[in-house]
Amino acid sequence: LSLIELVKNMPKAELHIHIEGSLEPELIFALAQRNGVELNYPSIEALRAAYAFTNLQSFLDIYYAGASVLLTEQDFYDMTRAYLERAHADNILHTELFFDPQTHTARGVEFGVVVNGIQRALRDAHAEWGMTGGLIMCFLRHLSEEEAFLTLEQALPYREHILGIGLDSSERGHPPEKFARVFARCKELGFHLVAHAGEEGPPAYIETALDLLQVERIDHGVRCTDDPVLMQRLALQAIPLTVCPLSNIKLCVFETMAQHNILTLLDAGLVVTVNSDDPAYFGGYMNDNLVALVKALPVQRHHARQLARNSFNAAFIDHNLKQKYL
Ligand code: HPA
Ligand code: ZN
Repeated sequence: LSLIELVKNMPKAELHIHIEGSLEPELIFALAQRNGVELNYPSIEALRAAYAFTNLQSFLDIYYAGASVLLTEQDFYDMTRAYLERAHADNILHTELFFDPQTHTARGVEFGVVVNGIQRALRDAHAEWGMTGGLIMCFLRHLSEEEAFLTLEQALPYREHILGIGLDSSERGHPPEKFARVFARCKELGFHLVAHAGEEGPPAYIETALDLLQVERIDHGVRCTDDPVLMQRLALQAIPLTVCPLSNIKLCVFETMAQHNILTLLDAGLVVTVNSDDPAYFGGYMNDNLVALVKALPVQRHHARQLARNSFNAAFIDHNLKQKYL
């Protein structure tokens, strides 16, 4: 088996996928038509041509515009179903989906519409393929902590469907400590905690996410290599990093894949995982990310096997399921 075949076929978990970032241009146009929503792009091709990002914010502006076509429970179901079919094809056995409720409730879409649509697709994937997964609700960090608290209130009736809490959107200027109190409340409520940190922001945001938000995993975290002491801590404490290679290239975190630091992180013993982040916008799903790494970097078979093991070890699943998958 070639290394490319090995990474494609190996069973794996995905832990960093924004479900709104799986919305392909074709589905954006179909939903816009179904819902009578006006788009600022004349065609699917014109929309796709706008996917030339220079940094995180230039992506987020288009990503939020794309999500504006989502109105009904069926829309959320269709979007999630399409992702889960792709995930199944990539031999993903377990997937933890981020969703951004504030992007939808701000447009008058009810919280329950969002969760019920996504949840129904996850339930069907479990029934059909035995795929497991869960939802991680993200607070938008460019909004206030007060708005995050309001969102948490809206989530409580659906808490059985929510595995954890995350933090995403514009990183720079919105440090983790802005959300310290709401994360403390989420911890009391028993949610798993994660946060985006060290994607564009400094390594100090990784430290404050760990110390002040008490997160269990760091999303991205690639900028930790700027701080050797922090890197050593992440390795010693086995804090998983959910790394997203194609995202990092599209958002210019690294200039080329050959310059990506993922092997440095793996070889230093960090619990690194590979993920797609926003696959419809960044040019690839899980296996596309793995293949891109194999093509650009001296990835060895032991690296590939470690990435697969890490994905299950870092997942929020109980001991028995972990044993089954490992
Ligand atoms: N970073 C921050 N916020 C996001 C991302 C990301 O990569 N994708 C969707 N929201
Ligand atoms: Zn992300």
